[in-house]
Amino acid sequence: MDTYDLIVKNADIATSGDRYQADIGIRAGRIVAIAKDLSGEAGEVIDALGRLVTPGGVDGHVHLDQPTSDGAVFSDDFFTGTRSAACGGTTTVIPFAAQQKGHSLQEAVDDYHRRADGKAVIDYAFHLIVSDATHAVTREELPRLISQGYTSLKIYMTYDDMKLGDRQIIEVLATARQHGAMTMVHAENSDCIGWLTEHLLAAGLAAPSYHGNSRPMVVEREATHRAIALSELVDTPILIVHVSGQEAVEQIHWARGRGLPIYAETCPQYLFLSADDLQPQGDDHAHGMRCICSPPPRDKGNQQVIWNGLANGLFTIVSSDHAPFNYHGPRGKRLAGEQAPFNQVPNGIPGVETRLPLLLSAGVLGGRIDIHRFVELTSTNPARLYGLYPKKGTIAVGSDADLVVWNMFEPGQEQALTHAMLHSACDYTPYEGQTLRCWPALTLSRGRTVWRDGVFTAQAGDGQFQPCLRPREPVAGSPLAKWL
Ligand code: URP
Ligand code: ZN
Ligand code: ZN
Repeated sequence: MDTYDLIVKNADIATSGDRYQADIGIRAGRIVAIAKDLSGEAGEVIDALGRLVTPGGVDGHVHLDQPTSDGAVFSDDFFTGTRSAACGGTTTVIPFAAQQKGHSLQEAVDDYHRRADGKAVIDYAFHLIVSDATHAVTREELPRLISQGYTSLKIYMTYDDMKLGDRQIIEVLATARQHGAMTMVHAENSDCIGWLTEHLLAAGLAAPSYHGNSRPMVVEREATHRAIALSELVDTPILIVHVSGQEAVEQIHWARGRGLPIYAETCPQYLFLSADDLQPQGDDHAHGMRCICSPPPRDKGNQQVIWNGLANGLFTIVSSDHAPFNYHGPRGKRLAGEQAPFNQVPNGIPGVETRLPLLLSAGVLGGRIDIHRFVELTSTNPARLYGLYPKKGTIAVGSDADLVVWNMFEPGQEQALTHAMLHSACDYTPYEGQTLRCWPALTLSRGRTVWRDGVFTAQAGDGQFQPCLRPREPVAGSPLAKWL
């Protein structure tokens, strides 16, 4: 007779491709059987009673305990950030080991392991942020780190401490092509932002809402187009991260029409927030700081464009871009004071816990996307894109037993999201008051219960580092071939 550590019975299983009712047998952290009326001995049986069961979320864009150059401190470390993720149904996160200019990538990786090890409660991998693309980095360090399971890189076209020039971007893309890595691009034109910021501040327009004026869509559109052109030149795919609205969407659509492999990520802030959220609230003039992130939330028309892009296949993944800074206290949003000009407010907002419940509520239960597309965007595609599939990102025999059993609220029983419900160390949520129609009843991470019926049950250190496979075959030949 077969034995299991755990059987999840009567699950209404939804993957990116299938939906069916079955029992899920779990042994040693893996799914070992899926069948109707699974027989055998089990250490524990959880009856899912026909509830929706999806693969655990894979959040391919989070910032946890990342060193900063301005003295701001991310409010979540690997314990509180992964706790928050688990309570919202996410079972794998991919934060960033960020190279500091003048330092090696290896130093960033070693430092980041020290920050994560023994703290994470769910599994994690690392992206690399390349901020200093010297020959030593592109020719020696990157190839070695890619072979060791750090197979995705983020590059910035803005932020003084991070940005690369076009020549450096080309060098990084060429390395990614040759070694089978995936490159994520933060696409905003740094010089446009610098010029606009200088003139806004000179005119006394320094309140949080002017953050949006300093980064209009044309700034994102130009950089998105340039990133696509560089990707075409080097003949390698890229992922444009945190796409905020129509003009960037049009560039990606145009590139796809040319047959270019351009992937696209969006985030909840571009679906649920708008430029209005950067305005003061009552006497609280700093209130808009809470929603300062880059690119900035746009208008309602752009929100609709982003929803359309989820429905029509334009977007590859939805990530949180969880980048939490406290609203109160001296090391977060008010680092440069209550009256700080917008350009001195740390960029980023929290969202790792709310990503799945908000998208399932407004997206699937709101009739905008189906459940398969939800799973694809939030779990299967990020796992594929970053070399974690099929260990992560699906419900299949052999996959890790990372599962979410959903509690769907009856019509009329919807809840308003409040900060008090959440488990991040950040002192606010930008999504306060959003309508929730569901929340995870149970989250399993490699078969362990990490969240059940409102109680967090995991231990620091339960999460394991996941080396990633190369998402693509390395390409040996010269990218110049097609131009000669
Ligand atoms: O404003 C944002 N998005 N902050 C996080 C860092 C980044 O660029 O993703
Ligand atoms: Zn970014
Ligand atoms: Zn980010």
